[in-house]
Amino acid sequence: LARHHLGEEAFAARQEGFALPDPQRAGEWGHVLHRQFRVTYETPVVFSREVFDPRNPRLRDALSRLEPGKRHRAAVFIDDGVTAARPDILDRIRSYAAAHESSLELAGDIVAVPGGERCKTSASYVEQILLALQERRIDRHSFAIAIGGGAVLDLVGYAAAIFHRGVRHVRFPTTVLSQGDSGIGVKNGVNAFRQKNLIGTFSPPWAVVIDGAFIDHLPATEKRDGMSEAVKVALIRDRAFFQWIETHAAALAAFDSGRLDELIRRSAVLHLSQITHGGDPFETGSSRPLDFGHWSAHKLEMLTGHAVSHGHAVAIGVALDARYSVLAGLLAPGEDERIRRVLSALGFDLWHDALRERGPTGPLAVADGLRDFQEHLGGELTVTLLREIGEGIDVHALDYALIERAVDWLARRHEQEKASAA
Ligand SMILES: NC(=O)c1ccc[n+]([C@@H]2O[C@H](COP(=O)([O-])OP(=O)(O)OC[C@H]3O[C@@H](n4cnc5c(N)ncnc54)[C@H](O)[C@@H]3O)[C@@H](O)[C@H]2O)c1
Ligand SMILES: [Zn+2]
Repeated sequence: LARHHLGEEAFAARQEGFALPDPQRAGEWGHVLHRQFRVTYETPVVFSREVFDPRNPRLRDALSRLEPGKRHRAAVFIDDGVTAARPDILDRIRSYAAAHESSLELAGDIVAVPGGERCKTSASYVEQILLALQERRIDRHSFAIAIGGGAVLDLVGYAAAIFHRGVRHVRFPTTVLSQGDSGIGVKNGVNAFRQKNLIGTFSPPWAVVIDGAFIDHLPATEKRDGMSEAVKVALIRDRAFFQWIETHAAALAAFDSGRLDELIRRSAVLHLSQITHGGDPFETGSSRPLDFGHWSAHKLEMLTGHAVSHGHAVAIGVALDARYSVLAGLLAPGEDERIRRVLSALGFDLWHDALRERGPTGPLAVADGLRDFQEHLGGELTVTLLREIGEGIDVHALDYALIERAVDWLARRHEQEKASAA
C-alpha cells in the first residue's frame, strides 16, 4: 500500500506488523481502532570521578549527544547535604559550565533543595521546583539536572516529568544507595496524604552520572546503609558478587573507597540489567523482583517512624527472608547464617525491638507488611525468596508461623552477639 494512502504513522505501523483496519472503515462509528506503538528509551549511565573537573568531558558529551553543535540550557538542583559536605561544589559546577560554554549554559542560579525525606513530604517543594523551572524557561529541549540523594532525585525527577509534560532530566545520585540502586531506575515520586511515594511517574532519565567522588563526603551511616541493596541484588542475581562482598567485607566496613566504588558499580549494573532485560520496566505485573527483603523492611521503617533507615531496614529484611527461605526448605541450611554474618561484618545491627511489636489481636505487627507490599502493586502477592545464594525464587504465600520463627532467630542471634561482645 502506498505510503501516502495510509498516512505516515499507519505506514510505519504496518511495517512493524501491527494489525490495521481497512482504511475505508477506519474512523466509522462503532468501529474499534487499535492503536499500538513502541517508544525506545536510551539512557547513558556514566561512571566517573570528579565529573565537574573542566577536563572531564563526560557530562558535556552525555548532554549534547543528540545535538552536538548546540548550546544546551540546564537548570541545576542540588541537595543541601551535598553542598554542606562539599562547599566548593557550586563553584566547580559554575566553572565547568564556563569551561564548556559553547555547549552548556547554566539557566539561572543553582537551586539548593533540602536533602532527605522531608523534601518529598511537603507538597510545597514540588511547587517550588516547578516554579524554578518556569523562571528558568526550561523547555523540552533543555535540562533539569538533579544532584543529590534518592529523595532529592525523586522530587526533582517528578517535577521534571510533569513540567511541560516532561523535560529532559539528568540524575546525579550522591549516596551509595542511590548510585547503586534507585538513581539508575526509571521511577520518581513524592509522598502524599501520609503515604510514601503515592504520587509519581515512570520516566527514564535522559542520562545518569555516577561520580564516586560524592561518596567520599558521605556520612558513615549513609555509606553503610546503602550497601544492603548491593547484598540484596547479589543474593538474588549474582553469586560471585556475593562472594566478592563476603571476601571484602572488612574493607567495605572500613569504607575503602576502591572497594566501595566496585560495590556500587556492580550493584548498579545488576539493577540496570533488571530494568532493561526484566521485561517489565514500568512494573505493570505483580512481581517485584528487586524487592527481596523489602516487605518487612518497609514495615519496619513505618513502625519505627523512619528511625530505622531504608538501607538498615533492608539489611534486617534480607537476613529475615534468608532465614525464612531456610525454614521453608528452599535454601540450604547454613546459608542463612552465612548471609547474616556478611551483613553483620559490614556493620549492620540486625535487630530492632519493633520486630517484636504485636497488633491488638496478637500477631507480629511486622507481618502486616505483606499486605501493604501486595497492595502497592495490586494483583497477586509475590515475594522473592532465595533458592540459593545468587538465585531468587518467587512465592505467593508466606507461612505466618515461619515468620515468627525467623524473627525469633534474629532475636537469638542478636542476644548471642551482644553477650559475646560484652
Ligand atoms: N525512585 C526510585 O526508584 C527509588 C528507589 C528506592 C528508593 N528511593 C527513594 O530514595 C530515598 C532515599 O535515598 P537515599 O538513601 O539516597 O537518602 P536521602 O536522599 O534521604 O539522603 C540522605 C541524606 O544524605 C545527604 N546526602 C546526600 N548525598 C550526600 C553526599 N554526597 N554527602 C553528604 N551528604 C549527602 C542528604 O542531604 C540527606 O540528608 C527515599 O525517599 C526512597 O523512597 C527511590
Ligand atoms: Zn530498597
